[in-house]
Amino acid sequence: MGEVLKVAMPKGRIYKKAAELFREAGIFIPDDVDDSRKLVIPIPEANMEFIMAKPVDVPTYVEYGVADIGIVGKDVLLEENRDVYELLDLGIARCRMSVIALPDWKPGIHLRVATKYPNVAARYFREQGEQVEVIKLNGSIELAPLIGLADRIVDMVETGQTLKDNGLVERESIFGITSRLIANRVSYRMKNDEIQQLCDRLEKVMPSPSAARS
Ligand code: PRP
Repeated sequence: MGEVLKVAMPKGRIYKKAAELFREAGIFIPDDVDDSRKLVIPIPEANMEFIMAKPVDVPTYVEYGVADIGIVGKDVLLEENRDVYELLDLGIARCRMSVIALPDWKPGIHLRVATKYPNVAARYFREQGEQVEVIKLNGSIELAPLIGLADRIVDMVETGQTLKDNGLVERESIFGITSRLIANRVSYRMKNDEIQQLCDRLEKVMPSPSAARS
């Protein structure tokens, strides 16, 4: 057996999909990991240790090398801009990043945009040649246009249910999002056999690239 791989796993909705993919790839993950509140979980059967992180922090743990690899959404990678290798598009947890507004929204001056992704939003509007004030929020972003904090929001859309329930409309889709496998640059060299073996196994069961496109 090779060295133990430290894997930063995103807690919450991506975790379940990632665990499912690992299991399909024949990697043993005990069922009780899914609902545990434990944050560091040794999985000797898989020669791994899971580090259960807040999704937005996964690239930080990987960049600093306290996790060798990690699973994280492309949205977080684009927002955080960390120095890590992006090894695989796992094709899971598919959704999109969009500009959203109330149906009667009209362009005007001094526009405010609320988002959990201030870097992504600022970059997008700069590229569009639009001057906006970006307001960072940490969740329930859809509230902002409803109660007058912002004209538009930049947020993730998965099923579209949150928009529907709040009477909002998607004005533009900025990019598609799937989860990625990332690696620390040093770990990628030092634990190359283990990481490569995992990639090979995951690649066999990942959704096809066309299905992963969004
Ligand atoms: C995300 C996102 C949207 C919603 C989109 O929020 O920010 O609000 O999911 O999903 P849907 O299109 O399937 O409705 P999340 O549930 O992560 O919670 P948050 O409001 O705390 O960001």
